[in-house]
Amino acid sequence: MLKDAKARIAVLVSGGGTNLQALLDAQKSGILRSGEIVLVVSNNPDAYALTRAQNAGVATAVLTKRDCGGQAGFEAKLHETLKTADIDLVILAGFMSILSAEFTDRWPKKIINVHPSLIPSFCGQGFYGLRVHEAALSYGVKVTGATVHFVNEIPDGGQIILQKAVEIQPGDTPETLQKRVMEQAEWILLPRAAEMVSAEIVNKGKGETV
Ligand code: GAR
Repeated sequence: MLKDAKARIAVLVSGGGTNLQALLDAQKSGILRSGEIVLVVSNNPDAYALTRAQNAGVATAVLTKRDCGGQAGFEAKLHETLKTADIDLVILAGFMSILSAEFTDRWPKKIINVHPSLIPSFCGQGFYGLRVHEAALSYGVKVTGATVHFVNEIPDGGQIILQKAVEIQPGDTPETLQKRVMEQAEWILLPRAAEMVSAEIVNKGKGETV
């Protein structure tokens, strides 16, 4: 065990970054204590999440598929950026891009994601952001929630770490449901899972990625 060591965390974002904010707040309050957020990477130069990172004094990077010449170039640059920053754990927090098996195979059990439904419902390709809540409401489920899981080559298909149920209320819109799922589930689960996985990485002595 590496005493006093912390897992070095990179958070990948695309938009508003409320889940990133929950992680930053958890770091401040001590809920997240075995890991330290050292880098925020956005695939969207206009993401408000970048401002949140800057306000917290965390280094940022912007990588777009367009600038990298497509998915393979983007993933190669992302891998290089993460290795350069000596990252131990990658957290997808509202990151709206699917990573290929070539990338996820290089970070086994080192990437986690928060998804705004109870997997295996309303997940996989095409289910992201508000679309997930639209699908839950149009199906008519009475309970939804959020899931934090490890990321592998199957979109939203990796091992589940934590889940929490949230009730749907009469008159819910995708927006009201999204807000309740974030408040009651995502912002609680993601920091908790980040701490669990960081602690495991530190206890194992920070394994190597390829
Ligand atoms: C969150 O609800 C997150 O779970 C979801 O997008 C939102 C991002 O909000 N992610 C996905 O749907 C990924 N499949 P945020 O930028 O405020 O954290």
